[in-house]
Amino acid sequence: MERNRVCELLKIKYPIFQGGMARIADASLAAAVSEAGGLGIITGAAPTEWVREQIKETKKLTNKPFGVNIMLMAENADEIADLVCEEEVAVVTTGAGSPGKFMEKWKKHNIKVIPVVASVALAKRMEKAGADAIIAEGTESGGHVGQLTTMTLVPQVVDAVNVPVIGAGGIGDGRGVAAAFMLGAEGIQVGTRFLVAKECTVHQNYKDKILKANDIDTEVTGRCTGHPVRVLRNKLARTYLKLEKEGMPVEEIEKLGIGALRKAVVEGDVDNGSLMSGQIAGLINKEQTSKEIIEELFKGAEERFKLFGGKYE
Ligand SMILES: Cc1cc2nc3c(=O)[nH]c(=O)nc-3n(C[C@H](O)[C@H](O)[C@H](O)COP(=O)(O)O)c2cc1C
Repeated sequence: MERNRVCELLKIKYPIFQGGMARIADASLAAAVSEAGGLGIITGAAPTEWVREQIKETKKLTNKPFGVNIMLMAENADEIADLVCEEEVAVVTTGAGSPGKFMEKWKKHNIKVIPVVASVALAKRMEKAGADAIIAEGTESGGHVGQLTTMTLVPQVVDAVNVPVIGAGGIGDGRGVAAAFMLGAEGIQVGTRFLVAKECTVHQNYKDKILKANDIDTEVTGRCTGHPVRVLRNKLARTYLKLEKEGMPVEEIEKLGIGALRKAVVEGDVDNGSLMSGQIAGLINKEQTSKEIIEELFKGAEERFKLFGGKYE
């Protein structure tokens, strides 16, 4: 693994990122993942002072590298962009836009910049803008999604850029890890499986829904708003889809989403809250520590590779 480009670039043991999940990815989860040898990521989709506290707390819990995920469309994106410099965060992953205007500043602070993309065109633009690696995220993922599957997106992005590609979306066990490497990825990003990590502070009701989910239990809501989001089917998702079908004005539909993630994550309201989850939830059936999850994923991948007489260095 020492020769893996992602491990070398980020000085981590395992080439796995824990996705920076909005409202969920705090110091507890990020530190546990980093301490276990992956790259823990704190969500930056939150008030600036909260993010600062989480960064400081993570530094107390681990001296290993960790990242912050910045949603570039967020109102406080400029503040978070400065904050990661002040706090000397090792890695920034970005979503919802182009990080171009921050690139020079981040590079000056020696921050590795790794944008999330859902298309080849965006991957190329990001590489040109100076990205150190690219996360290619398929539509199987939880949260905001694009159109292409991980299976189709990853190899096309790998062919289009020279920087390392991290595959995301639908990876839940060692077979998924091995598959991502087979497609040319040099690292993986996992969200849904880390939702049920012991160090993940999301409400237990939310975790239970993930643990009980079957293969066909997710829906994509918000296609008509231009911001499609994959969630577990519940009362809120059904209402959302019904109103979309009836052609309700986008602004009205979007009002349904206000506060919905907080309801799910903090209050454990699994009917009216937004239960963002990937399609792989059906495969996830046990709570484990982040360390156990990471070790199981890579042990499983090693076994797959051995079956075919190879290894993934
Ligand atoms: C609950 C949840 C919230 C998420 N929020 C964000 C986010 O704020 N920013 C982001 O870049 N990705 C977000 N994602 C996507 C993850 O970072 C990751 O790329 C994705 O979960 C990988 O696919 P998987 O869910 O199949 O493991 C979220 C995913 C989940 C499940």
